[in-house]
Amino acid sequence: MNATIAQLKQRFEQALVAAFGRELAETDPILVPASNPKFGDYQSNVAMSLTKKLGKPPQGIAQAIVEQLDVTDLCEAPTIAGPGFINLRLKSSYLEQQLQQIQTDPRLGIAPTKQPQHTIVDFSSPNIAKEMHVGHLRSTIIGDCIARVLEFIGHDVLRINHLGDWGTQFGMLITHLKQAYPEALTTANALALGDLTSFYKQAKQRFDEDEEFRETSRLEVVALQAGNEETLRAWNLLCEQSFLAFREIYDLLDIQIANRGESFYNPLLAGVVSDLDKAGLLVEDQGAQCVFLEGFTNKEGNPLPLIIKKSDGGYNYATTDLAAVRYRIQQDHADRIIYVTDAGQANHFTQVWQVARKAGWIPDNVELVHVPFGLVQGEDGKKFKTRSGDTVRLRDLLDEAVARAKADLEARLQEEGRQESEDFIDHVAEVVGISSVKYADLSQNRTSNYIFSYDKMLSLQGNTAPYLLYAYVRVQGISRKGNIDFQQLGDHAIQLTEEAESTLAKHLLGFDEVLSALEMDLMPNRLCQYLFELSQKFNQFYDRCPILQADEPQRTSRLVLADLTARTLKLGLSLLGIQVLERM
Ligand code: ARG
Repeated sequence: MNATIAQLKQRFEQALVAAFGRELAETDPILVPASNPKFGDYQSNVAMSLTKKLGKPPQGIAQAIVEQLDVTDLCEAPTIAGPGFINLRLKSSYLEQQLQQIQTDPRLGIAPTKQPQHTIVDFSSPNIAKEMHVGHLRSTIIGDCIARVLEFIGHDVLRINHLGDWGTQFGMLITHLKQAYPEALTTANALALGDLTSFYKQAKQRFDEDEEFRETSRLEVVALQAGNEETLRAWNLLCEQSFLAFREIYDLLDIQIANRGESFYNPLLAGVVSDLDKAGLLVEDQGAQCVFLEGFTNKEGNPLPLIIKKSDGGYNYATTDLAAVRYRIQQDHADRIIYVTDAGQANHFTQVWQVARKAGWIPDNVELVHVPFGLVQGEDGKKFKTRSGDTVRLRDLLDEAVARAKADLEARLQEEGRQESEDFIDHVAEVVGISSVKYADLSQNRTSNYIFSYDKMLSLQGNTAPYLLYAYVRVQGISRKGNIDFQQLGDHAIQLTEEAESTLAKHLLGFDEVLSALEMDLMPNRLCQYLFELSQKFNQFYDRCPILQADEPQRTSRLVLADLTARTLKLGLSLLGIQVLERM
Protein backbone atom coordinates (compact mmCIF):
# COMPACT_ATOMS: atom_id res chain seq x y z
CA MET A 1 0.00 0.00 0.00
CA ASN A 2 3.00 2.23 -0.45
CA ALA A 3 1.35 3.98 -3.33
CA THR A 4 -1.76 4.63 -1.26
CA ILE A 5 0.20 6.17 1.61
CA ALA A 6 2.15 8.31 -0.82
CA GLN A 7 -1.10 9.61 -2.31
CA LEU A 8 -2.65 10.26 1.07
CA LYS A 9 0.45 12.15 2.18
CA GLN A 10 0.22 14.39 -0.82
CA ARG A 11 -3.47 15.12 -0.19
CA PHE A 12 -2.73 16.00 3.43
CA GLU A 13 0.02 18.36 2.40
CA GLN A 14 -2.38 20.12 0.04
CA ALA A 15 -5.04 20.35 2.76
CA LEU A 16 -2.55 21.74 5.30
CA VAL A 17 -1.47 24.45 2.90
CA ALA A 18 -5.06 25.30 2.03
CA ALA A 19 -6.04 25.49 5.70
CA PHE A 20 -2.98 27.16 7.24
CA GLY A 21 -0.82 28.53 4.47
CA ARG A 22 2.42 27.76 2.65
CA GLU A 23 4.64 27.46 5.72
CA LEU A 24 3.01 24.11 6.54
CA ALA A 25 3.83 22.70 3.10
CA GLU A 26 6.51 20.30 4.37
CA THR A 27 4.56 19.02 7.37
CA ASP A 28 4.58 15.25 7.90
CA PRO A 29 0.93 14.13 8.15
CA ILE A 30 2.02 11.38 10.62
CA LEU A 31 -0.04 8.69 8.92
CA VAL A 32 -0.07 5.35 10.68
CA PRO A 33 -2.15 2.22 10.23
CA ALA A 34 -5.29 2.44 12.36
CA SER A 35 -4.86 0.83 15.76
CA ASN A 36 -8.19 -0.93 15.36
CA PRO A 37 -9.96 -1.80 12.09
CA LYS A 38 -13.10 -0.37 13.71
CA PHE A 39 -11.65 3.12 13.18
CA GLY A 40 -10.72 2.57 9.56
CA ASP A 41 -7.44 1.82 7.82
CA TYR A 42 -5.23 4.80 8.58
CA GLN A 43 -5.03 7.47 11.20
CA SER A 44 -3.33 10.85 11.01
CA ASN A 45 -1.94 12.35 14.21
CA VAL A 46 -0.90 15.61 12.62
CA ALA A 47 -3.46 17.82 14.42
CA MET A 48 -1.99 17.06 17.85
CA SER A 49 1.52 17.76 16.59
CA LEU A 50 0.53 21.25 15.43
CA THR A 51 -1.21 22.58 18.54
CA LYS A 52 1.85 24.44 19.84
CA LYS A 53 2.88 25.81 16.50
CA LEU A 54 -0.62 27.04 15.62
CA GLY A 55 -1.72 27.86 19.15
CA LYS A 56 -5.08 26.18 18.59
CA PRO A 57 -6.82 23.14 20.10
CA PRO A 58 -6.20 19.93 18.10
CA GLN A 59 -9.90 19.27 17.54
CA GLY A 60 -10.24 22.57 15.65
CA ILE A 61 -7.08 21.93 13.66
CA ALA A 62 -8.34 18.49 12.66
CA GLN A 63 -11.64 20.04 11.65
CA ALA A 64 -9.92 22.63 9.47
CA ILE A 65 -7.77 19.99 7.77
CA VAL A 66 -10.70 17.68 7.09
CA GLU A 67 -12.66 20.54 5.52
CA GLN A 68 -9.87 20.98 2.98
CA LEU A 69 -8.95 17.32 2.57
CA ASP A 70 -9.91 15.94 -0.81
CA VAL A 71 -9.73 12.15 -0.68
CA THR A 72 -13.09 11.23 -2.16
CA ASP A 73 -11.52 8.96 -4.77
CA LEU A 74 -9.59 7.00 -2.11
CA CYS A 75 -11.53 7.07 1.14
CA GLU A 76 -14.92 7.32 2.76
CA ALA A 77 -15.58 10.69 4.44
CA PRO A 78 -12.84 11.20 7.08
CA THR A 79 -13.91 11.25 10.73
CA ILE A 80 -12.36 12.92 13.76
CA ALA A 81 -12.02 11.07 17.02
CA GLY A 82 -10.67 11.60 20.53
CA PRO A 83 -8.34 14.58 20.97
CA GLY A 84 -8.10 15.09 17.18
CA PHE A 85 -7.20 11.88 15.35
CA ILE A 86 -8.26 11.91 11.72
CA ASN A 87 -9.49 8.47 10.72
CA LEU A 88 -9.57 7.25 7.15
CA ARG A 89 -11.24 4.25 5.66
CA LEU A 90 -10.32 3.15 2.14
CA LYS A 91 -13.20 2.89 -0.27
CA SER A 92 -14.10 -0.47 -1.75
CA SER A 93 -14.08 1.03 -5.22
CA TYR A 94 -10.49 2.16 -4.70
CA LEU A 95 -9.38 -1.28 -3.45
CA GLU A 96 -11.17 -2.95 -6.35
CA GLN A 97 -9.40 -0.75 -8.82
CA GLN A 98 -6.00 -1.43 -7.18
CA LEU A 99 -6.58 -5.20 -7.29
CA GLN A 100 -7.61 -4.93 -10.90
CA GLN A 101 -4.23 -3.46 -11.69
CA ILE A 102 -2.24 -6.35 -10.24
CA GLN A 103 -4.57 -9.10 -11.34
CA THR A 104 -3.02 -9.84 -14.71
CA ASP A 105 0.55 -8.99 -13.68
CA PRO A 106 2.83 -11.99 -13.08
CA ARG A 107 4.84 -9.80 -10.66
CA LEU A 108 1.64 -8.93 -8.80
CA GLY A 109 2.18 -5.22 -9.16
CA ILE A 110 5.72 -5.16 -7.86
CA ALA A 111 7.80 -3.28 -10.39
CA PRO A 112 11.52 -4.10 -10.53
CA THR A 113 13.72 -1.56 -8.78
CA LYS A 114 14.87 1.48 -10.72
CA GLN A 115 18.20 1.39 -8.87
CA PRO A 116 19.60 -2.12 -9.29
CA GLN A 117 22.68 -2.72 -7.18
CA HIS A 118 25.57 -5.12 -7.54
CA THR A 119 24.95 -7.11 -4.40
CA ILE A 120 27.03 -9.88 -2.88
CA VAL A 121 25.47 -12.27 -0.42
CA ASP A 122 28.19 -14.18 1.46
CA PHE A 123 26.41 -17.07 3.11
CA SER A 124 26.52 -20.74 4.11
CA SER A 125 30.35 -20.87 4.04
CA PRO A 126 31.10 -24.14 5.87
CA ASN A 127 34.60 -25.40 6.54
CA ILE A 128 36.29 -28.13 4.54
CA ALA A 129 36.75 -31.52 6.22
CA LYS A 130 34.44 -30.50 8.98
CA GLU A 131 30.78 -31.28 8.99
CA MET A 132 28.37 -28.46 8.21
CA HIS A 133 26.54 -27.70 11.44
CA VAL A 134 23.18 -26.13 12.31
CA GLY A 135 24.77 -22.68 12.34
CA HIS A 136 25.70 -23.16 8.69
CA LEU A 137 22.17 -24.39 8.07
CA ARG A 138 20.78 -21.11 9.40
CA SER A 139 23.23 -19.12 7.30
CA THR A 140 22.29 -21.17 4.24
CA ILE A 141 18.54 -20.77 4.66
CA ILE A 142 18.59 -17.09 5.61
CA GLY A 143 21.21 -16.15 3.01
CA ASP A 144 19.33 -17.95 0.25
CA CYS A 145 16.08 -16.18 1.17
CA ILE A 146 17.75 -12.76 1.18
CA ALA A 147 19.36 -13.49 -2.19
CA ARG A 148 16.02 -14.60 -3.65
CA VAL A 149 14.21 -11.49 -2.44
CA LEU A 150 16.90 -9.12 -3.74
CA GLU A 151 17.00 -10.94 -7.09
CA PHE A 152 13.23 -10.64 -7.41
CA ILE A 153 13.39 -6.93 -6.63
CA GLY A 154 15.79 -6.66 -9.54
CA HIS A 155 19.25 -6.45 -7.99
CA ASP A 156 22.16 -8.23 -9.54
CA VAL A 157 23.12 -10.74 -6.87
CA LEU A 158 26.34 -12.72 -6.57
CA ARG A 159 25.90 -15.59 -4.13
CA ILE A 160 29.25 -16.49 -2.60
CA ASN A 161 30.30 -19.47 -0.54
CA HIS A 162 33.26 -18.25 1.51
CA LEU A 163 34.37 -21.80 2.28
CA GLY A 164 36.93 -22.39 5.00
CA ASP A 165 39.26 -24.19 2.60
CA TRP A 166 42.66 -22.83 3.64
CA GLY A 167 44.69 -22.43 6.76
CA THR A 168 46.96 -24.27 9.15
CA GLN A 169 44.50 -27.09 9.88
CA PHE A 170 45.23 -28.37 6.37
CA GLY A 171 48.73 -29.33 7.48
CA MET A 172 47.40 -32.02 9.78
CA LEU A 173 44.59 -33.03 7.42
CA ILE A 174 46.95 -33.55 4.50
CA THR A 175 49.54 -35.38 6.61
CA HIS A 176 46.85 -37.68 7.92
CA LEU A 177 45.45 -38.26 4.44
CA LYS A 178 48.86 -39.10 2.98
CA GLN A 179 49.63 -41.55 5.76
CA ALA A 180 46.27 -43.16 6.36
CA TYR A 181 44.86 -43.20 2.81
CA PRO A 182 47.87 -42.98 0.46
CA GLU A 183 45.96 -44.74 -2.35
CA ALA A 184 43.53 -41.82 -2.40
CA LEU A 185 46.26 -39.71 -3.96
CA THR A 186 46.89 -42.04 -6.85
CA THR A 187 43.57 -43.67 -7.62
CA ALA A 188 40.55 -41.66 -8.69
CA ASN A 189 37.58 -41.86 -6.33
CA ALA A 190 39.51 -44.01 -3.87
CA LEU A 191 38.80 -41.55 -1.13
CA ALA A 192 35.55 -42.29 0.53
CA LEU A 193 36.04 -40.30 3.66
CA GLY A 194 32.49 -40.97 4.64
CA ASP A 195 32.22 -39.30 7.93
CA LEU A 196 34.45 -36.29 7.52
CA THR A 197 34.08 -35.35 11.12
CA SER A 198 35.76 -38.52 12.28
CA PHE A 199 38.55 -38.01 9.75
CA TYR A 200 39.08 -34.54 11.16
CA LYS A 201 39.01 -35.88 14.71
CA GLN A 202 41.59 -38.57 13.93
CA ALA A 203 43.92 -35.99 12.44
CA LYS A 204 43.41 -33.64 15.37
CA GLN A 205 44.08 -36.39 17.89
CA ARG A 206 47.33 -37.39 16.19
CA PHE A 207 48.30 -33.73 16.03
CA ASP A 208 47.75 -33.29 19.75
CA GLU A 209 49.55 -36.48 20.76
CA ASP A 210 52.33 -37.03 18.29
CA GLU A 211 55.31 -34.67 18.13
CA GLU A 212 56.57 -36.08 14.84
CA PHE A 213 53.11 -35.78 13.25
CA ARG A 214 53.00 -32.17 14.35
CA GLU A 215 56.31 -31.41 12.71
CA THR A 216 55.31 -33.15 9.44
CA SER A 217 52.03 -31.17 9.52
CA ARG A 218 53.89 -27.92 9.91
CA LEU A 219 56.03 -28.76 6.89
CA GLU A 220 52.90 -29.61 4.90
CA VAL A 221 51.51 -26.14 5.58
CA VAL A 222 54.70 -24.65 4.23
CA ALA A 223 54.53 -26.98 1.21
CA LEU A 224 50.89 -26.04 0.61
CA GLN A 225 51.65 -22.35 0.71
CA ALA A 226 54.63 -22.86 -1.58
CA GLY A 227 52.35 -24.65 -4.05
CA ASN A 228 53.97 -28.10 -3.82
CA GLU A 229 52.25 -30.29 -6.36
CA GLU A 230 51.60 -33.39 -4.28
CA THR A 231 50.44 -31.35 -1.31
CA LEU A 232 48.08 -29.39 -3.51
CA ARG A 233 46.70 -32.63 -4.91
CA ALA A 234 45.95 -33.86 -1.41
CA TRP A 235 44.38 -30.53 -0.52
CA ASN A 236 42.23 -30.65 -3.64
CA LEU A 237 41.04 -34.15 -2.83
CA LEU A 238 39.97 -33.08 0.63
CA CYS A 239 38.13 -30.08 -0.74
CA GLU A 240 36.36 -32.04 -3.43
CA GLN A 241 35.36 -34.81 -1.09
CA SER A 242 34.06 -32.36 1.44
CA PHE A 243 32.21 -30.47 -1.19
CA LEU A 244 30.35 -33.58 -2.30
CA ALA A 245 28.84 -33.74 1.16
CA PHE A 246 27.91 -30.04 1.06
CA ARG A 247 26.43 -30.43 -2.42
CA GLU A 248 24.06 -33.07 -1.12
CA ILE A 249 22.69 -30.61 1.42
CA TYR A 250 22.45 -27.82 -1.15
CA ASP A 251 20.57 -30.08 -3.55
CA LEU A 252 18.11 -31.07 -0.86
CA LEU A 253 17.57 -27.44 0.04
CA ASP A 254 17.57 -26.16 -3.56
CA ILE A 255 20.44 -23.74 -3.00
CA GLN A 256 22.43 -22.03 -5.74
CA ILE A 257 25.80 -20.73 -4.61
CA ALA A 258 29.22 -20.16 -6.17
CA ASN A 259 32.30 -21.47 -4.40
CA ARG A 260 34.89 -18.86 -3.69
CA GLY A 261 36.61 -20.06 -0.58
CA GLU A 262 39.37 -18.56 1.51
CA SER A 263 42.04 -20.18 -0.69
CA PHE A 264 40.93 -17.93 -3.55
CA TYR A 265 42.34 -14.93 -1.70
CA ASN A 266 45.61 -16.56 -0.70
CA PRO A 267 47.64 -14.98 -3.52
CA LEU A 268 46.31 -11.55 -2.47
CA LEU A 269 47.25 -11.68 1.22
CA ALA A 270 50.82 -10.43 0.89
CA GLY A 271 49.50 -7.43 -1.04
CA VAL A 272 47.00 -6.68 1.71
CA VAL A 273 49.80 -6.57 4.25
CA SER A 274 52.10 -4.41 2.16
CA ASP A 275 49.30 -1.97 1.29
CA LEU A 276 48.34 -1.61 4.93
CA ASP A 277 52.00 -0.99 5.62
CA LYS A 278 52.19 1.69 2.90
CA ALA A 279 49.11 3.33 4.40
CA GLY A 280 51.05 3.57 7.65
CA LEU A 281 48.61 1.39 9.55
CA LEU A 282 50.84 -1.55 10.49
CA VAL A 283 52.44 -1.79 13.91
CA GLU A 284 54.73 -4.61 14.98
CA ASP A 285 53.62 -6.21 18.23
CA GLN A 286 55.60 -9.15 19.63
CA GLY A 287 56.70 -10.14 16.14
CA ALA A 288 53.20 -9.93 14.66
CA GLN A 289 51.99 -7.30 12.19
CA CYS A 290 48.92 -5.58 13.61
CA VAL A 291 46.54 -2.70 13.14
CA PHE A 292 45.36 -1.09 16.37
CA LEU A 293 41.60 -0.68 16.57
CA GLU A 294 39.46 2.10 17.91
CA GLY A 295 36.69 1.18 20.30
CA PHE A 296 38.17 -2.22 21.16
CA THR A 297 40.26 -2.70 24.27
CA ASN A 298 41.73 -5.67 26.09
CA LYS A 299 41.19 -6.52 29.77
CA GLU A 300 43.73 -3.91 30.85
CA GLY A 301 41.92 -1.22 28.86
CA ASN A 302 44.65 -0.96 26.24
CA PRO A 303 43.79 -0.72 22.54
CA LEU A 304 43.28 -4.11 20.95
CA PRO A 305 45.30 -5.08 17.87
CA LEU A 306 43.87 -6.91 14.89
CA ILE A 307 46.60 -9.34 13.87
CA ILE A 308 47.13 -9.23 10.12
CA LYS A 309 50.24 -11.39 9.92
CA LYS A 310 51.28 -13.73 12.71
CA SER A 311 54.83 -13.90 14.06
CA ASP A 312 55.30 -17.24 12.23
CA GLY A 313 54.42 -15.53 8.95
CA GLY A 314 50.93 -17.04 8.70
CA TYR A 315 47.78 -15.07 7.99
CA ASN A 316 44.46 -14.96 9.83
CA TYR A 317 40.75 -15.28 9.11
CA ALA A 318 40.63 -11.47 9.27
CA THR A 319 43.41 -11.05 6.69
CA THR A 320 41.43 -13.13 4.22
CA ASP A 321 38.31 -11.07 4.88
CA LEU A 322 40.30 -7.90 4.24
CA ALA A 323 41.45 -9.28 0.91
CA ALA A 324 37.88 -10.41 0.17
CA VAL A 325 36.22 -7.09 0.88
CA ARG A 326 38.72 -5.27 -1.28
CA TYR A 327 38.36 -7.78 -4.11
CA ARG A 328 34.57 -7.61 -3.98
CA ILE A 329 34.60 -3.85 -4.27
CA GLN A 330 37.40 -3.47 -6.82
CA GLN A 331 36.84 -6.53 -9.02
CA ASP A 332 33.18 -7.41 -8.49
CA HIS A 333 32.12 -3.75 -8.25
CA ALA A 334 29.83 -4.54 -5.37
CA ASP A 335 27.57 -1.75 -4.06
CA ARG A 336 26.25 -3.78 -1.16
CA ILE A 337 27.95 -6.72 0.56
CA ILE A 338 25.89 -8.82 2.91
CA TYR A 339 27.51 -11.30 5.30
CA VAL A 340 25.23 -13.90 6.86
CA THR A 341 26.84 -15.46 9.94
CA ASP A 342 26.04 -16.13 13.58
CA ALA A 343 25.92 -13.10 15.85
CA GLY A 344 29.21 -14.20 17.44
CA GLN A 345 31.13 -12.89 14.42
CA ALA A 346 29.82 -9.32 14.73
CA ASN A 347 33.06 -8.02 16.23
CA HIS A 348 35.12 -9.75 13.59
CA PHE A 349 33.33 -7.87 10.84
CA THR A 350 33.35 -4.54 12.65
CA GLN A 351 37.10 -4.87 13.06
CA VAL A 352 37.81 -5.93 9.50
CA TRP A 353 35.68 -3.11 8.10
CA GLN A 354 37.27 -0.56 10.38
CA VAL A 355 40.71 -1.50 9.06
CA ALA A 356 39.49 -1.58 5.45
CA ARG A 357 37.94 1.89 5.91
CA LYS A 358 41.13 3.28 7.41
CA ALA A 359 43.01 1.92 4.43
CA GLY A 360 40.58 3.78 2.16
CA TRP A 361 39.22 0.67 0.47
CA ILE A 362 35.53 1.30 1.14
CA PRO A 363 33.99 4.06 -0.98
CA ASP A 364 31.18 6.01 0.67
CA ASN A 365 28.51 4.56 -1.58
CA VAL A 366 29.34 0.96 -0.69
CA GLU A 367 27.25 -0.60 2.05
CA LEU A 368 28.68 -3.41 4.19
CA VAL A 369 26.09 -5.28 6.22
CA HIS A 370 26.41 -8.05 8.74
CA VAL A 371 23.23 -10.13 8.99
CA PRO A 372 23.63 -11.83 12.35
CA PHE A 373 21.50 -14.66 13.66
CA GLY A 374 21.04 -16.45 16.98
CA LEU A 375 21.69 -20.03 18.03
CA VAL A 376 19.63 -23.12 17.34
CA GLN A 377 18.67 -24.74 20.62
CA GLY A 378 17.25 -28.13 21.53
CA GLU A 379 13.83 -28.39 23.15
CA ASP A 380 15.60 -28.31 26.52
CA GLY A 381 16.84 -24.81 25.67
CA LYS A 382 20.44 -26.00 25.51
CA LYS A 383 22.74 -26.28 22.54
CA PHE A 384 21.18 -28.44 19.83
CA LYS A 385 22.67 -31.96 20.15
CA THR A 386 21.75 -35.56 19.39
CA ARG A 387 20.54 -37.71 22.28
CA SER A 388 24.06 -39.10 22.67
CA GLY A 389 25.42 -35.56 22.92
CA ASP A 390 27.01 -35.35 19.45
CA THR A 391 26.52 -32.49 17.02
CA VAL A 392 23.59 -33.15 14.75
CA ARG A 393 24.51 -34.01 11.17
CA LEU A 394 22.47 -31.85 8.82
CA ARG A 395 21.73 -34.70 6.49
CA ASP A 396 20.21 -36.61 9.43
CA LEU A 397 18.25 -33.58 10.55
CA LEU A 398 16.69 -33.06 7.12
CA ASP A 399 16.03 -36.78 6.65
CA GLU A 400 14.31 -36.88 10.01
CA ALA A 401 12.07 -33.94 9.10
CA VAL A 402 11.06 -35.69 5.87
CA ALA A 403 10.49 -39.02 7.65
CA ARG A 404 8.26 -37.35 10.25
CA ALA A 405 6.35 -35.47 7.56
CA LYS A 406 5.78 -38.79 5.84
CA ALA A 407 4.51 -40.48 8.99
CA ASP A 408 2.13 -37.55 9.64
CA LEU A 409 0.86 -37.69 6.08
CA GLU A 410 0.29 -41.43 6.14
CA ALA A 411 -1.67 -41.13 9.38
CA ARG A 412 -3.79 -38.37 7.90
CA LEU A 413 -4.48 -40.32 4.70
CA GLN A 414 -5.56 -43.29 6.78
CA GLU A 415 -7.88 -41.11 8.85
CA GLU A 416 -9.43 -39.56 5.77
CA GLY A 417 -9.64 -42.91 4.01
CA ARG A 418 -7.59 -41.57 1.09
CA GLN A 419 -5.55 -43.68 -1.31
CA GLU A 420 -2.45 -42.05 -2.75
CA SER A 421 0.51 -43.34 -4.76
CA GLU A 422 3.99 -43.89 -3.30
CA ASP A 423 5.28 -41.08 -5.53
CA PHE A 424 2.70 -38.66 -4.24
CA ILE A 425 3.48 -39.53 -0.64
CA ASP A 426 7.22 -39.22 -1.11
CA HIS A 427 6.97 -35.93 -2.93
CA VAL A 428 4.61 -34.33 -0.41
CA ALA A 429 6.70 -35.61 2.50
CA GLU A 430 9.88 -34.17 1.04
CA VAL A 431 8.37 -30.77 0.28
CA VAL A 432 6.63 -30.53 3.65
CA GLY A 433 9.66 -31.78 5.60
CA ILE A 434 12.20 -29.45 3.98
CA SER A 435 9.81 -26.46 3.91
CA SER A 436 9.07 -26.89 7.57
CA VAL A 437 12.73 -26.72 8.52
CA LYS A 438 13.26 -23.65 6.35
CA TYR A 439 10.13 -21.89 7.52
CA ALA A 440 10.77 -22.55 11.19
CA ASP A 441 14.10 -20.84 10.80
CA LEU A 442 12.95 -17.92 8.64
CA SER A 443 9.82 -17.11 10.64
CA GLN A 444 11.81 -16.27 13.77
CA ASN A 445 13.28 -12.86 14.28
CA ARG A 446 16.72 -14.01 13.14
CA THR A 447 18.60 -12.15 15.85
CA SER A 448 17.13 -14.32 18.60
CA ASN A 449 17.94 -17.91 19.43
CA TYR A 450 15.31 -20.41 18.44
CA ILE A 451 14.23 -23.78 19.68
CA PHE A 452 14.25 -26.55 17.14
CA SER A 453 11.08 -28.61 17.45
CA TYR A 454 9.96 -31.06 14.78
CA ASP A 455 6.47 -31.22 16.31
CA LYS A 456 5.94 -27.48 16.15
CA MET A 457 7.38 -26.93 12.70
CA LEU A 458 5.40 -29.78 11.13
CA SER A 459 2.08 -28.83 12.68
CA LEU A 460 -0.80 -27.93 10.38
CA GLN A 461 -1.81 -25.26 12.90
CA GLY A 462 -0.01 -22.04 13.70
CA ASN A 463 2.68 -20.06 11.96
CA THR A 464 4.17 -23.04 10.10
CA ALA A 465 4.98 -24.09 6.55
CA PRO A 466 2.24 -26.75 6.46
CA TYR A 467 -0.39 -24.14 7.44
CA LEU A 468 0.65 -21.88 4.55
CA LEU A 469 1.02 -24.74 2.08
CA TYR A 470 -2.46 -25.87 3.04
CA ALA A 471 -3.99 -22.46 2.29
CA TYR A 472 -2.52 -22.72 -1.19
CA VAL A 473 -3.86 -26.26 -1.60
CA ARG A 474 -7.30 -25.04 -0.59
CA VAL A 475 -7.42 -22.62 -3.49
CA GLN A 476 -6.29 -25.31 -5.91
CA GLY A 477 -9.05 -27.49 -4.43
CA ILE A 478 -11.62 -24.87 -5.41
CA SER A 479 -10.35 -24.92 -8.97
CA ARG A 480 -10.52 -28.72 -9.10
CA LYS A 481 -13.94 -28.88 -7.53
CA GLY A 482 -15.45 -26.17 -9.73
CA ASN A 483 -13.46 -27.18 -12.80
CA ILE A 484 -12.06 -23.67 -12.96
CA ASP A 485 -9.02 -22.67 -14.95
CA PHE A 486 -7.75 -19.64 -13.03
CA GLN A 487 -5.70 -18.53 -15.99
CA GLN A 488 -8.87 -18.16 -18.03
CA LEU A 489 -10.53 -15.82 -15.53
CA GLY A 490 -8.88 -12.91 -17.27
CA ASP A 491 -9.48 -9.35 -16.33
CA HIS A 492 -12.69 -9.71 -14.41
CA ALA A 493 -14.14 -6.92 -12.27
CA ILE A 494 -13.66 -7.49 -8.55
CA GLN A 495 -16.45 -6.54 -6.17
CA LEU A 496 -15.79 -6.28 -2.47
CA THR A 497 -19.01 -6.53 -0.48
CA GLU A 498 -18.23 -8.53 2.66
CA GLU A 499 -15.84 -7.40 5.39
CA ALA A 500 -13.78 -10.60 4.99
CA GLU A 501 -13.28 -9.74 1.33
CA SER A 502 -12.05 -6.20 2.00
CA THR A 503 -9.76 -7.41 4.75
CA LEU A 504 -8.21 -9.95 2.40
CA ALA A 505 -8.00 -7.39 -0.41
CA LYS A 506 -6.15 -4.88 1.75
CA HIS A 507 -3.71 -7.50 2.86
CA LEU A 508 -3.05 -8.59 -0.72
CA LEU A 509 -2.22 -5.01 -1.59
CA GLY A 510 0.40 -4.82 1.16
CA PHE A 511 2.85 -7.27 -0.43
CA ASP A 512 5.13 -4.67 -2.01
CA GLU A 513 5.49 -2.81 1.26
CA VAL A 514 6.72 -5.94 2.99
CA LEU A 515 9.27 -6.62 0.28
CA SER A 516 10.55 -3.04 0.39
CA ALA A 517 11.02 -3.30 4.13
CA LEU A 518 12.81 -6.64 3.75
CA GLU A 519 15.06 -5.17 1.07
CA MET A 520 16.27 -2.67 3.66
CA ASP A 521 16.44 -4.56 6.93
CA LEU A 522 16.97 -8.09 5.59
CA MET A 523 14.50 -9.64 8.04
CA PRO A 524 12.87 -12.68 6.40
CA ASN A 525 10.42 -13.09 9.30
CA ARG A 526 8.55 -10.07 7.89
CA LEU A 527 7.67 -12.02 4.77
CA CYS A 528 6.72 -15.08 6.82
CA GLN A 529 4.43 -13.01 9.04
CA TYR A 530 2.85 -11.42 5.98
CA LEU A 531 2.17 -14.79 4.35
CA PHE A 532 0.88 -16.26 7.61
CA GLU A 533 -1.60 -13.42 7.99
CA LEU A 534 -2.55 -13.75 4.35
CA SER A 535 -3.38 -17.42 4.91
CA GLN A 536 -5.40 -16.56 8.01
CA LYS A 537 -7.33 -13.85 6.18
CA PHE A 538 -7.93 -16.14 3.27
CA ASN A 539 -9.22 -18.87 5.58
CA GLN A 540 -11.64 -16.39 7.17
CA PHE A 541 -12.85 -15.32 3.75
CA TYR A 542 -13.19 -18.98 2.74
CA ASP A 543 -15.21 -19.81 5.85
CA ARG A 544 -17.51 -16.80 5.59
CA CYS A 545 -18.04 -16.23 1.88
CA PRO A 546 -19.38 -18.92 -0.43
CA ILE A 547 -17.33 -19.00 -3.61
CA LEU A 548 -18.47 -21.69 -6.04
CA GLN A 549 -22.03 -21.42 -4.69
CA ALA A 550 -22.21 -17.64 -5.09
CA ASP A 551 -24.13 -16.00 -7.94
CA GLU A 552 -22.42 -14.07 -10.68
CA PRO A 553 -20.78 -11.60 -10.78
CA GLN A 554 -19.78 -12.32 -7.17
CA ARG A 555 -18.69 -15.86 -7.99
CA THR A 556 -16.00 -14.83 -10.45
CA SER A 557 -14.97 -11.89 -8.29
CA ARG A 558 -14.33 -14.29 -5.41
CA LEU A 559 -12.52 -16.73 -7.64
CA VAL A 560 -10.22 -13.90 -8.69
CA LEU A 561 -9.58 -13.04 -5.03
CA ALA A 562 -8.79 -16.68 -4.27
CA ASP A 563 -6.48 -16.92 -7.24
CA LEU A 564 -4.69 -13.71 -6.28
CA THR A 565 -4.19 -15.14 -2.81
CA ALA A 566 -2.72 -18.34 -4.21
CA ARG A 567 -0.40 -16.48 -6.56
CA THR A 568 0.78 -14.21 -3.76
CA LEU A 569 1.40 -17.25 -1.56
CA LYS A 570 3.25 -19.05 -4.31
CA LEU A 571 5.45 -16.08 -5.11
CA GLY A 572 6.06 -15.26 -1.45
CA LEU A 573 6.90 -18.85 -0.57
CA SER A 574 9.24 -19.11 -3.55
CA LEU A 575 11.13 -16.13 -2.13
CA LEU A 576 11.53 -18.10 1.08
CA GLY A 577 12.89 -21.00 -0.97
CA ILE A 578 9.70 -22.99 -0.49
CA GLN A 579 7.91 -24.84 -3.23
CA VAL A 580 4.10 -25.15 -3.20
CA LEU A 581 2.02 -28.31 -3.60
CA GLU A 582 -1.17 -28.68 -5.63
CA ARG A 583 -2.49 -31.27 -3.20
CA MET A 584 -1.24 -32.49 0.14
N1 ARG B 1 33.68 -20.27 7.50
C1 ARG B 1 33.15 -19.36 8.48
C2 ARG B 1 32.55 -20.16 9.65
O1 ARG B 1 32.31 -21.34 9.52
C3 ARG B 1 32.10 -18.44 7.93
C4 ARG B 1 32.57 -17.48 6.87
C5 ARG B 1 31.69 -16.27 6.75
N2 ARG B 1 32.11 -15.33 5.74
C6 ARG B 1 33.17 -14.52 5.79
N3 ARG B 1 33.44 -13.75 4.78
N4 ARG B 1 33.93 -14.47 6.87
O2 ARG B 1 32.34 -19.59 10.70
